Amino acid sequence: MLENPVSETFLLESFIDSPALNSKLEVEAALKQLPAVSAKSLHLSQTAFKQFNISTEKNYKNAPIATLNPSKPLKAETESLLKCATAVLPEEKKQVSELEQVPIQTLISTYFSFMILLIFAHVRDLLGKFFYPDQYKSLKEQDGYAPLISDFESLWNRRLYTRISDVFNRPITGVAGGHVNLLERTSKDNNRTFQLTGKKTNVLNLASYNYLGFAQSQGYCADQVEKMILEHGISTCTSRLHGGHTSLLSQTEQLVANFVGTEDAIIISMGYSTNSSVLPLLVQKGCLLISDELNHSSLVAGSRLSGATIAVFKHNNPEDLEQVLRKSISQGQPRTHRPWKKILVVVEGLYSMEGELCNLRGIIALKQKYKFNLYVDEAHSIGAVGKRGRGICDLLNIDPKQVDILMGTFTKSFGAVGGYIAGNKSLISMLRLMAHTSVYAESMPIPVLEQVASSLRLIMDDVPECKGEGLARINQLADNSAYFMGKLKQMGFLVLGSKGSPVVPLLLFNPGKIPAFSHECTKRNMAVVVVSYPATPIISGRVRFCLSASHTREDLNLALKHIDEIGDLLQLKLLKK
Ligand SMILES: Cc1ncc(COP(=O)(O)O)c(C=O)c1O
Repeated sequence: MLENPVSETFLLESFIDSPALNSKLEVEAALKQLPAVSAKSLHLSQTAFKQFNISTEKNYKNAPIATLNPSKPLKAETESLLKCATAVLPEEKKQVSELEQVPIQTLISTYFSFMILLIFAHVRDLLGKFFYPDQYKSLKEQDGYAPLISDFESLWNRRLYTRISDVFNRPITGVAGGHVNLLERTSKDNNRTFQLTGKKTNVLNLASYNYLGFAQSQGYCADQVEKMILEHGISTCTSRLHGGHTSLLSQTEQLVANFVGTEDAIIISMGYSTNSSVLPLLVQKGCLLISDELNHSSLVAGSRLSGATIAVFKHNNPEDLEQVLRKSISQGQPRTHRPWKKILVVVEGLYSMEGELCNLRGIIALKQKYKFNLYVDEAHSIGAVGKRGRGICDLLNIDPKQVDILMGTFTKSFGAVGGYIAGNKSLISMLRLMAHTSVYAESMPIPVLEQVASSLRLIMDDVPECKGEGLARINQLADNSAYFMGKLKQMGFLVLGSKGSPVVPLLLFNPGKIPAFSHECTKRNMAVVVVSYPATPIISGRVRFCLSASHTREDLNLALKHIDEIGDLLQLKLLKK
């Protein structure tokens, strides 16, 4: 027990900032230490208790009655801090508990359906190989050469993916804004090939990562881009080191650094290769790279290319990360057991397949304890979350300097392409000289750079003629995301994702419902992305709605009406009371 009474402010701050909020046991332990229960601290701790399902009576049964009834409202600032903390930390728990509510028959029927599909696939292949050996030549050894295509992958593609491939890679035309033109296509050979019918349909676009709605062909950004093309052309036709380092590139890099709150930043012309080319420069043989199990494939590629030893921790779970750290640090390098040269932990700010925000507070608390370097991929969180749109650190009120490497892409919130790495000057200078994507890859084209720079200026409210536009977009996105997710939950759908996430995954489970959902949406003029195994665990096939500031309330209401109908049709409202 603490011996001296602790001030109310301290209690509040310690509750919000404390890494103890990461686990039920630690919250319980921390709360036992509280010497006096004030109205405010009680309110906060009760919220923490609720998030972790801890009974308040157990801890407060001796508290004076008056304190159990907080009368004074919490300061707005404190409330928003609390919202941030609670919005993120308990998500994993929430997701688990929502999954626990899935009726057992849904789980059984999903596994059963996959089993039937696989049995049929194997039987058809077996018969096919016997009766039509010529058609299966590529899967067999030929003249002593091993087949290049692995059998199971090929089986999966031919027998499962191709059957429903009409719902993937659908061609579109025009600007991929809030609405988009879908090109109708048909297939005469069971989806092996497609033919365009020539028909175009304007549909509501719930499929693009156009979070702030900057993917548009008019407005400030488009005008600026046009102006820059007239002044500077399209491309420098070479890499940064060979004459492609323009003043626009320098200015945009500085703008990115100012925006994310670091000393410097480097821009790379592709988001995927930002990760895959930079990670190998940060860790090598003798180093340990610890990766969240659901990290994006670009992070996985970079990790593998680095040559470092790779360890994986359970998705968004600092407790498991701590176990991995303790074990790895105590064991040291394989065989020699020497200490690791360095340890790099790699996570994402917002996991796009789950719509889940990173538990960054918990990870930073561990960073301070175990002194590892931290790499956060903000591809989906930059621009899309935080009061000022500055990503996960902005949302959680964390100083960006606490993260060693902040990575992000311009493909999502900025309506452009490419990626950046932000950090301290010496790190960025090293990357400019060493990263093959800086030395050999062509510099970012002028129109793309200008799209990034002008959208950043709008978000930072630095354009006098468009005062408030960037912030309005950030607020609109937050509003749209909260409204849409809230309504889906009210309808009884099983929805994953953190509060405030612009990606809202709705679980479909059964493999037959995945194409059916997509077809029903297309019939109702909505473009959506459905995702299934192997991109998700086999059980949790889903539709992933991506919200945008360019969606109006009418758009969302119409979409919700249609989804409601489809939910009844396909019996997807698993949590309906
Ligand atoms: C987390 C994450 N990192 C990196 C990338 C790669 O970015 P890009 O698509 O801009 O190449 C993506 C792409 O979606 C992503 O989701």
